[in-house]
Amino acid sequence: MTATRSFIRPNILDLTPYRPGKPIEEVQREYGIQDVVKMASNENPLGPSPKAVAAMEEAVRQVGLYPDGNCFYLKEDLARYWKVSAEEIILGNGSDEIIHYLGVAFMNPGEEVILADPTFVRYESAAILNNCACIKVPLKNHTYDLAAMADRITDRTKMIFIANPNNPTGTMVTRQEVDALMNRVPEGVLTVFDEAYYEYVESPAYPDTLNLVREGRDVIVLRTFSKIYALAGLRIGYGIARPEIIHYLNQVREPFNVSLVAQAAARASLRDPGQVARSRKANAEGKRFLCQGFEAIGLEYAPSEANFIWVNTGKDSREVFEALIHRGVIVRTGDIFGWPTYIRVTMGTPDENRRFIEALRSVLGQ
Ligand SMILES: Cc1ncc(COP(=O)(O)O)c(C=O)c1O
Repeated sequence: MTATRSFIRPNILDLTPYRPGKPIEEVQREYGIQDVVKMASNENPLGPSPKAVAAMEEAVRQVGLYPDGNCFYLKEDLARYWKVSAEEIILGNGSDEIIHYLGVAFMNPGEEVILADPTFVRYESAAILNNCACIKVPLKNHTYDLAAMADRITDRTKMIFIANPNNPTGTMVTRQEVDALMNRVPEGVLTVFDEAYYEYVESPAYPDTLNLVREGRDVIVLRTFSKIYALAGLRIGYGIARPEIIHYLNQVREPFNVSLVAQAAARASLRDPGQVARSRKANAEGKRFLCQGFEAIGLEYAPSEANFIWVNTGKDSREVFEALIHRGVIVRTGDIFGWPTYIRVTMGTPDENRRFIEALRSVLGQ
């Protein structure tokens, strides 16, 4: 151990491995409960499009071959879908991988990366990995404070990460707030709009950040097939930015980073708008149901534009988590995000949502 420590890069010691939501199988094994629902990882309970499933079954027969490393047809489809050019698109093994590539391609040691706190942890990992300083700006009312983030820009700033909606709070920043920020971001600072939950947003005030790409700004917009398209297990996401930014990301990209099956499933998913519409509707209904449940119990929650809700249980979230698990419901505790009485719960099916609210009521002694 000591010997290894002496030859590892010192900044790697500061990295915390990602802690995923507890898998269903683990809860079944550890707690001896068979009927378990997972509302911990912001997955889509309706599952993928039947068209995507059929495309995957077909693609499986071809996995003796390497995938198209350039994702040619998928890029063409996405370019048509978003009215951008194929040169403005990069595919990743999840949008996670693109966050990693952003760090490898653009961050120099000693530069600064501006992040919110709390937010998606992978931004901080990219900064630490590349010896950059993390400038953490607290949320205001559980929402990104873009004005305070702009105040922290210096001549050492390399990147600004904005999860919109934010994970774990589900809150959104508006077009107006983004415009005000972008008026203050100088050239040479890359602003990353991570829009993993884009398709769930209901608010008309949500910004159209692809316009910033079209204007040639130093921005990248990240989207994913993991959330509304329900392909989290396949690992496929993408980034849209001007061609020069994409070019440099491609310099550090693994040659076959997106599997043949994932490319086929993503293409078929784009051809099934019905799956997105159904999922959006189910999510909106689930959100209303859960919010009403929280209000009936008297719990404060953050207004969500995503497929999960950040709610204050008023108790130690680890105890609430344990008690919920004994009732077969897995959620995420807020302590890992620095908010020890909060939990993050993902919208489930109507049955799962009912089961969660009943379990929460009983856990909180109501
Ligand atoms: C804000 C945010 N960005 C990115 C991701 C990663 O998504 P992917 O599965 O595409 O790697 C997540 C996943 O939870 C997320 O919440």
